[in-house]
Amino acid sequence: MVEADGRATALRDGTFDLATARLVLTNVPRPEEILAEMVRLVRPGGIVALHEPDATAQRTEPPLVEQRDLLGLLNEHAAMSGIDRSIGLRTPRMLREQGLTDVHVHPLVHAYPPGHSRRMLLPEFVENARERILADGLIPAADLDALVASLRRQLEKPTTLVVSSLFIQAWARKASS
Ligand SMILES: C[S@@+](CC[C@H](N)C(=O)[O-])C[C@H]1O[C@@H](n2cnc3c(N)ncnc32)[C@H](O)[C@@H]1O
Repeated sequence: MVEADGRATALRDGTFDLATARLVLTNVPRPEEILAEMVRLVRPGGIVALHEPDATAQRTEPPLVEQRDLLGLLNEHAAMSGIDRSIGLRTPRMLREQGLTDVHVHPLVHAYPPGHSRRMLLPEFVENARERILADGLIPAADLDALVASLRRQLEKPTTLVVSSLFIQAWARKASS
């Protein structure tokens, strides 16, 4: 096993039949650099495959203002660090821009029923990023905490439908030389 920065692995060109990443590009600034490294690592004719979200597409029914506001805060906070929470939508184009061909796209969404481990993902993400969001000056602490508590109460109701991010699986082939 090799542990390295995905932007610069120091592995040889064309080493692999497949390079794949899941939920990585949405967490880093300059994601094109990781993708370029993945392309470099696959052999001609090899495949690069990505699984990334459009996390801005999360929904509930009934619609919740707390969900809308907290998603907006997370998106704004991420953008301030150069992170694109909707990058999944861009991945087919990013693959083409790397010169790959034969691009395939498979969209996925999930419902998170009561008791599902991902049902509370949004308040958990906000709580993890709480100090950084507050440091951005985007919202007072008391308002943020009240929004999170209120969202948790709404998501605890079994009648609230919680729908995931839109996930885009996109894969493409490196031209044979
Ligand atoms: C949300 S986790 C996804 C983990 C796993 N791929 C999955 O789908 O469950 C994001 C992952 O990106 C990795 N990561 C972030 N920046 C990276 C970089 N520059 N090079 C390599 N990995 C990186 C982190 O180590 C972390 O494991």
